[in-house]
Amino acid sequence: MVRVRRSSVLRARLPRSRRRGRATQHPGCLIAFEGVEGAGKSTQLRLAAAALRAQGFAVVETREPGGTPLGAALRRLVMHRTADPPRPMTELLLYLADRTQHIADIIQPAIERGAVVLTDRFSASTIAYQGYGRQLDLRTVMRLDAIVRHGVSPALTLLLDCPAASGLRRARGDDRFHREDLAFHERVRAAFLGFARRQPRRYRVIDATGPRQHVHQQVLDSVMQCLRRRT
Ligand SMILES: Nc1ncnc2c1ncn2[C@@H]1O[C@H](COP(=O)(O)OP(=O)(O)OP(=O)(O)O)[C@@H](O)[C@H]1O
Ligand SMILES: [Mg+2]
Repeated sequence: MVRVRRSSVLRARLPRSRRRGRATQHPGCLIAFEGVEGAGKSTQLRLAAAALRAQGFAVVETREPGGTPLGAALRRLVMHRTADPPRPMTELLLYLADRTQHIADIIQPAIERGAVVLTDRFSASTIAYQGYGRQLDLRTVMRLDAIVRHGVSPALTLLLDCPAASGLRRARGDDRFHREDLAFHERVRAAFLGFARRQPRRYRVIDATGPRQHVHQQVLDSVMQCLRRRT
């Protein structure tokens, strides 16, 4: 098990009995960055990882799909534009195959080591894109996702929210999803906002339209609040 140095910020707010100056094991946890294309997920994940490392946390940066070598191959299959695109159900199963591997090989071991795992997309994306975007049967999507997660769920999901059109203007990628029409992306955004409304303890909605540093400060405040709750 890795021992993780607590930040002074964190230590200052801990009860005296837990402030003895010894390094204490931090319980590992999973934090997901979600949002529409170009919302700033990858940018904010990188900034948050650097800030957490500077405070002494062990951090693992990862993403879906593509957090493992097999996942990287699945990412190409599911996201690249092709003349023979996967059917919606095939697409769902490819994402879930990626998640199975990702949880077993990256997420679970890192949490067990006490790391803070930051993932660029997770289950909420599957439910929003395949459930609401593609309009596959929602109960099927959620049931299959729950089977694959096997109890693993983010302690916090940061929803970087912006209008779908603004995100698409920012986004640099040109994968199959960037080519979907605006109504598709608006359904995805509305779905994310609905999850956050229904699970206010697990989600933080952050206005992603502001300057990077301003968004970063809100991300970091939410992450630190979550980590403090768990110590
Ligand atoms: N707050 C911001 N203001 C302006 N531009 C930003 C902001 N945050 C990120 N960007 C820029 O917008 C683009 C998209 O950002 P980023 O790649 O982080 O988004 P993303 O959500 O990861 O996108 P994707 O869904 O395509 O992976 C990048 O060029 C990035 O530098
Ligand atoms: Mg990205």
